[in-house]
Formats: sequence, structure tokens, C-alpha cells
Amino acid sequence: MNSAEIMDIEIKLLMEGVYRVYGYDFREYAEASLRRRLSLWLSDSGFATLSLAQSDLLRDRGLFDSLLRGITVNVSEMFRDSAFFKAVREHVVPHLKTYPFVKVWLAGCSTGEEAYSMAILLQEEGLKGRFRIYATDINEDVIRTAQKGIYPLHEMQRFTRNYQNSGGTISFCDYYTARYDHAILNASLRENMVFAAHNLAVDADFGEMNLILCRNVMIYFQQPLKERVLALFDKSLMPGGFLCLGTKESLDHRQIAHRYGEIKPRTQIYRKQYAKKN
Ligand SMILES: C[S@@+](CC[C@H](N)C(=O)[O-])C[C@H]1O[C@@H](n2cnc3c(N)ncnc32)[C@H](O)[C@@H]1O
Repeated sequence: MNSAEIMDIEIKLLMEGVYRVYGYDFREYAEASLRRRLSLWLSDSGFATLSLAQSDLLRDRGLFDSLLRGITVNVSEMFRDSAFFKAVREHVVPHLKTYPFVKVWLAGCSTGEEAYSMAILLQEEGLKGRFRIYATDINEDVIRTAQKGIYPLHEMQRFTRNYQNSGGTISFCDYYTARYDHAILNASLRENMVFAAHNLAVDADFGEMNLILCRNVMIYFQQPLKERVLALFDKSLMPGGFLCLGTKESLDHRQIAHRYGEIKPRTQIYRKQYAKKN
């Protein structure tokens, strides 16, 4: 057996232990991604192998938290994939405007850029005071960053370009104050936002959502976990509600697919059908 094969066994043993001790379920994460992330974590950790790290990982919460940060990929940006936000503006918002109140679940929100983007978009489209965004992530560190809404100033150029390409209607710098090398987003954007820890692999559904975004999260999951998470979204979504996935994700061949239609090809925005009347 070569060392890569042994590492795969070590990963399985460690992930089982992590699940039993901490309740975080990475047992159905895509193997290649886990292997890559854990190898990176190992090279920084001072342990020669995962087996040698395992005993400490299962007893030392601080060490486990560093592993958690290593496993989850947290890259995000404001108005990421601007064409997606443009499609939301043009094809989803007109439907949302017909509701008195709109509930949005952003699952896997990472450091919050996507949540603030959605808040800006909904405000600009006249829904101010009529929506609430529930932004959740498995990683409590990124949730803390998201709550602050402070990002490196040098990112603002890229975020501004994305915002403009997504159909943004005002000057993007109106949404933040520059201080030293940081941009502090306007606190008013947070008024309709709730940030919380939530693990898609083990936690329950969120009731009666009109819009769910889960972009660039399920690419790290194996098939059975993808099905579980999609069933959770299906349960959480109102009939007529919208489910948005990342550019490399789709509902093709998924169990819930027959209840959904893509609003426009290749947008990865799906609408849940209303129940058929007899
Ligand atoms: C690449 S980021 C995507 C961020 C954002 N949705 C975007 O597209 O820019 C993936 C996020 O999914 C989160 N994540 C991974 N597994 C999760 C799980 N089981 N439950 C909830 N969030 C999870 C990670 O912590 C990470 O913040």
C-alpha cells in the first residue's frame, strides 16, 4: 500500500472520529478536495501524519478549530459571477416584489460578501424593509468576519467592477467607508440580516424561504450529501420559491429535479413548481 492510500484510510478514520466527538460531518466530502486540504493543514501543523495528529485533534478543541479552518474553502467575493446577480435582478426580483415579505437563506455564506451583495441588490430594487437574509455557515470564524462587514480596501476595485457588471445602479463607494487599508460596509446593510452557524450535513431545515442561495458549497460534497442538502432546501423552500446554485453546480439528475425548472438556461437559478391542483 502506498502512502497516498494509507492517507485515505487515515482521513476516513479521522473524519469518523471528528463526527463522533464534535458532530461535524465531513464523511461525505469529496475525497480529492479533502486530501488536498488536509495535506496543506498537515504541512503547517508540525505533525508528520494524520494518525499522529488524530489523538490531539480529538481532544484539543483549539487544534480541531484550526483543522476546520483548513478543511473549509472560504473564498468569496462581492457580486461574484456578476451575470448571476444580473439574472437575479432581472428574472427573480420581479416575482419577489409581488410578496409582502421575502425570506432569503444564504447557505455557506463564508465571510459574508454574498449576503451584503444580496442586501444591496434587494434594497436597490425597492425591497428595503421587506426582506430578511439568513446567512449561515458551518465555520464560526467566517461568521464572525461576516458580522463585521469589513473587507480589505484593495478588494473594492474588483467588487466595484462586479457590482457594475451585475447591473448596480449607483456608485459602489456609497456602500462603504474607507479607513486605512479597510472598507467598512454601511451598518444599515446589516439591518435585515441574521448570521448563524448551521451545518448542512447534520442540521435541520429553515422554514418558508422564498429564495435560497447555496453557491460553490456542494462542489465539495459527495453525491449522497448533495442529495441530503438538496432535500433540505426543497423542504425549506416555498412553492414558487427560487433555488440558486454555483456556476459549476446543477440540479441535473437530482432527486428533487422534477419539481424545479431552470428559469433560463445556464443561470443555475431554479424555480420550485406550485403543487398541482386535482
Ligand atoms: C467557497 S465558499 C462559498 C461562499 C459563497 N457562497 C460564494 O459563492 O462566494 C464555501 C463555504 O461553504 C461552507 N461550508 C462547507 N461545508 C459546509 C456545511 N456542511 N454546512 C454549511 N456550510 C458549509 C464553508 O465553510 C465555506 O464558507
